[in-house]
Amino acid sequence: MKIVKTVQEVRDIVNEWRKEGLTVGLVPTMGYLHEGHQSLIAKSVAQNDRTVVSIFLNPIQFGPTEDLESYPRDPERDAKLCEDTGADLIFRPDVSDMYYDDFCTFVDMDIITKNLCGKSRPTHFRGVCTVVLKLFNIVKPDRAYFGQKDAQQLAVIKRMVRDFNIDIEIVGCPIVREADGLAKSSRNTYLNPDERKAALVLSRSLKKGMDVIKTGETNSKKIIAAITEVINTEPLAKIDYVSVVDAVTMQDVEAIKNDVLVAIAVKIGKTRLIDNFSFSV
Ligand code: PAJ
Repeated sequence: MKIVKTVQEVRDIVNEWRKEGLTVGLVPTMGYLHEGHQSLIAKSVAQNDRTVVSIFLNPIQFGPTEDLESYPRDPERDAKLCEDTGADLIFRPDVSDMYYDDFCTFVDMDIITKNLCGKSRPTHFRGVCTVVLKLFNIVKPDRAYFGQKDAQQLAVIKRMVRDFNIDIEIVGCPIVREADGLAKSSRNTYLNPDERKAALVLSRSLKKGMDVIKTGETNSKKIIAAITEVINTEPLAKIDYVSVVDAVTMQDVEAIKNDVLVAIAVKIGKTRLIDNFSFSV
């Protein structure tokens, strides 16, 4: 496995692979990798001849008061996880390689980015789309891998690919969880022991939501109320949103029909966590 920093190095390596007729998978990440990221890398390794993992803490997707500075990092452990999982190349650019001082072109998506996380993080998806489009143009993969953990991000990337006619297959991967149900996240490391326990309220409340749906309830308000009630039993938890949305457009739906996403964002102390499940009628 190779680790490179510059755009030119990635291009040279991928061009060589292309000449040999090899297929290429890309797994975009911000580092501090865990089993969630690893599942994406493993899937890419299984489906492609070569796998590139990008590790780039993308400053433009963080708001001014967000956790860019404190975001956890561990480049050595990340490299080992990538190598052990079968990745062929890590692309780890510096911020100055990705954004020149006079960088001024951004991908600005409407509708899908305005609800859920986009409401409390208004510039987030502009930053995500812009960096992902850059990574797509640098690596030019056949397939790119994204987790259902960030379900809105996955929907946004799928739409960008469709709207811009990008010839890359987007592969969604299921949420990987801790044994007790907490969705794995690089941000879980911020939680102190009490908060770590409190964070279980996210998966517990979603389980309640799923149970309510399974009893035949289709009314979104009632499903949201059942989830909210569980979250409110936890004193350390503060709800950002509890929503039932169309799985493609990310717009609120009044009742469950076709494919929906039940998504929540909850602050546990200072740490904002997200979780979700999809449901098809
Ligand atoms: P990051 O948070 O590092 O996540 C990288 C990828 O891993 C995303 O596609 C995310 O959905 C997936 N992932 C994270 N936790 C997961 C889990 N528990 N189960 C399954 N997949 C999981 O998402 C980003 O980085 C950035 O926004 C990025 C796309 C790299 C653009 O900067």
